Amino acid sequence: MESFQITAAGPHSSPLEGTVYVGGAKNSALKLMAAALLAPGITTIHNVPEILDVTVMAELLRRLGCTVAVDHPGDVDPTTELTSGVVRIGVPEELGWEAPYELVRRLRASIAVLGPLVARCHRASVALPGGDAIGSRGLDMHMAGLRDLGAEVRVEHGQVVAEVRDGLKGASLWLDFPSVGATENLLMASVLAAGTTVIDNVAREPEIVDLCEMLTEMGARISGTGSSTLTVEGVDRLNPVEHVCVSDRIVAGTWAFAPAIAGGSLTVNGGVAAHLDLVLDKLIDAGAEVNTHEGGFTVSADKRLRSFDVVTLPFPGFPTDLQPFAMALASVSDGTAMITENVFESRFMFAQELARLGADLHTDGHHAVVRGVPLLSGAPVVAHDIRAGAALVLAGLAGMGVTTVAESHHIDRGYPHFAEVLAGIGADVVRIGDSPA
Ligand code: UD1
Repeated sequence: MESFQITAAGPHSSPLEGTVYVGGAKNSALKLMAAALLAPGITTIHNVPEILDVTVMAELLRRLGCTVAVDHPGDVDPTTELTSGVVRIGVPEELGWEAPYELVRRLRASIAVLGPLVARCHRASVALPGGDAIGSRGLDMHMAGLRDLGAEVRVEHGQVVAEVRDGLKGASLWLDFPSVGATENLLMASVLAAGTTVIDNVAREPEIVDLCEMLTEMGARISGTGSSTLTVEGVDRLNPVEHVCVSDRIVAGTWAFAPAIAGGSLTVNGGVAAHLDLVLDKLIDAGAEVNTHEGGFTVSADKRLRSFDVVTLPFPGFPTDLQPFAMALASVSDGTAMITENVFESRFMFAQELARLGADLHTDGHHAVVRGVPLLSGAPVVAHDIRAGAALVLAGLAGMGVTTVAESHHIDRGYPHFAEVLAGIGADVVRIGDSPA
């Protein structure tokens, strides 16, 4: 298995310098690909990131009867240009409705085909994705919402099976928690339901707004986009469209943390500062300099930053996906930080790995106290998920000596050419070992 090897002499010893390019959001592109199922014909999605998860979603759509062409420019240098590409999905009139475990287990986001399949085929059987390294991730809200829309939903032989005899019917739904995945599935189910659906307490992430915008372009009638309540007037049929995927705020946020942790100055081209208001404000309060400009922003840190507390919450709160980076930064900042994880219960598995690099931290339930130390020390660690993996690489840049991050394939699921881009901005990061087949 492949690992990333990072060699460093501590924070600010070899500052990061240069420009990075942020493409489309993984967490949007995968859902937009699922949304294509709602309209027979050819849907084209631009600004799709060059990551493994897109390949897996393409495979799943093919299994459902679609043709999928994933086209990323092969000869682009990721250190000087954007590598995002185009995905063209040909959706047949008659779709398959079974999403098998062997694909779903590789990509939890494949649960996003559930809503579109029930809407289009009036039945769906999608494997339960199972837990992963950041928590159990229930589907109760997805299932309860589909039931409210008139579907019969059960779990059978490890599959979520949903059926509705005469098509979905609009209803009033309420989510217990603004779940991203449940909002997306119920939205995609309701656009073809008969009558009006009102979904209250929905997630408001920019990726949800992107999905609402694409569905609206397809002919869906949605009001309340970007608010906590979505109202959907069902239509009989949607049309395929061309759509540009929203920028990846988590990748942009990762790059914002990179100079804060390692030192230096990075221009994040394509990063949308407005999607990272809270995060960038925290970095400024901690002593970093942030300048926004047309097409992106620049983050600079020429000294050790001050610690700050973090509480993760649904958007516009502090994103749970950036919590590991906040923890990595706190581990080398001046002072003590309290980090509270409210979204995924097991995200603190990362803390154990960070402790291997010499971080002084203590976790208790969903709280972590991190006392900053001036310097981490390189060690072998393991990436348990995408964000933890990338955060360990950045923490390695604040370490003395060599850090190896094993199971780096997780990082490649969310960050196009992460090691190569880091090397391009002055970090000593190389891939070692065999890449996974
Ligand atoms: C998505 C993102 C993930 C991000 C998360 C929160 C994708 C592919 N992934 O995940 O990167 O960290 O949003 O911003 O887009 N829950 C239930 N029952 C449900 C649904 C959710 O208990 O029916 C719980 C989950 O276990 C979790 C929390 O709610 O603890 C948040 O989940 P959710 O917002 O749905 O996240 P995902 O869509 O899985």
